[in-house]
Amino acid sequence: MIAGDAAGESGGPRILLGISGGIAAYKAAELVRRLRAGGATVRVVMTAAAQAFITPLTLQGVSGSPVRTALLDATAEAGMDHIELARWAEQVLVAPATAHLIARLAHGLADDLLTTLLLATAAPVTLAPAMNQQMWLHPATAANIALLQARGVQLVGPEAGEQACGEVGPGRMAEPATIAAALLAGVAPAGQPALDQLARPLQGRRVLLTAGATHEALDPVRFIGNRSSGKMGYALASALAGLGAQVTIVSGPASAPPPPDLSLLRVESALEMHRAVMQRVAACDLFVAVAAVADYRPADPAAVKLKKGAAELELRLVRNPDILGEVAALPRAPFTVGFAAETDDLERHAAAKLAAKRMQMIAANLVGPAAAGAGFSADDNALLVLWRGGRQALPRLPKADLANVLAGLIAARYQVFIDGNDDAGAS
Ligand code: C5P
Repeated sequence: MIAGDAAGESGGPRILLGISGGIAAYKAAELVRRLRAGGATVRVVMTAAAQAFITPLTLQGVSGSPVRTALLDATAEAGMDHIELARWAEQVLVAPATAHLIARLAHGLADDLLTTLLLATAAPVTLAPAMNQQMWLHPATAANIALLQARGVQLVGPEAGEQACGEVGPGRMAEPATIAAALLAGVAPAGQPALDQLARPLQGRRVLLTAGATHEALDPVRFIGNRSSGKMGYALASALAGLGAQVTIVSGPASAPPPPDLSLLRVESALEMHRAVMQRVAACDLFVAVAAVADYRPADPAAVKLKKGAAELELRLVRNPDILGEVAALPRAPFTVGFAAETDDLERHAAAKLAAKRMQMIAANLVGPAAAGAGFSADDNALLVLWRGGRQALPRLPKADLANVLAGLIAARYQVFIDGNDDAGAS
């Protein structure tokens, strides 16, 4: 380490702050101030685009150290080169982290100083994402974030709310005070949970989720069922748990393996599922109905196995309770998300169901010939998500990726709901 650099060291944690090019970059000066006030020594690296939003001179002023902007900087290389800087850092923070920076990091690109440092460092990396809400919800960004999280990268935010572009949704950079608190806590040996918590918008929320099919008994060995595999419900349950929710699954028969670490209650029929849900619904904040529930059941299931005899057999069916409809109509209904599987005219049917069942969100997908390999039992799915006043088409993706994006959307809409700004709210 060169002498001049050591002069600025506080003895506190050494944090390397990378700034990429988003409007939230203007908050970086405040962030540096707060990190230093917390005892950290901060060095700043900026991408070319970041300099359009805030000048290196400002950050040099607040950090008390020269700011690095270029990989090939003859003067800087003589002092602290990128490898030395990567080794110096005890924590690397990128704030704001744009969609482009996140994509470059996910794919291991090293085409400027910041991305090179991110590859060269062994220090824990934390990102404070900031971008337009559509960009945050885009499956490409979701997949990149999932990849980075799997590699141990931590997130602080983003938060949901009003954005610089005028839209409302998830993608706003967490406040500098929040990021600084998370980082400083994260540097402390027992502080890691603080970071986790900030990336968990559903922390402490209780989710009741139905999944799988139902079997409606004809006799003790035969039933009327459907092709639901449980894959989408289980993937969504895991994704919601990943956002901090405490998830209970009420599952009908399913061929997919359930998530091993979540509470699971097995049921067979729609009536059993109805009973299990109604017993637990008062204790949940969100109800997510992914199960493919039979609308009808045999009126008089036989007590013993039916014998073959006559050339024709008539079955009389009676309606099952509509679990989702009943939950959504409760006086103190939870935030309710339904699914709709349709063979045609997806948006019209889904919009009609959203209104008729008075739920907050509906995720609709095509099934049957129109779905071509997506939908029931398949590994991929595509969804059209509707809420009152908004919609988002999620392209065909593996169900686990789709579930992550959908869980993010649910968390964002839930936040709007509890903030009381949702006109489809419980009122
Ligand atoms: O009206 P439709 O049955 O298509 O609505 C589908 C949605 O309603 C799904 O979320 C499904 O889990 C839920 N549902 C239910 N109880 C029923 C039928 C459907 O909860 N009896």
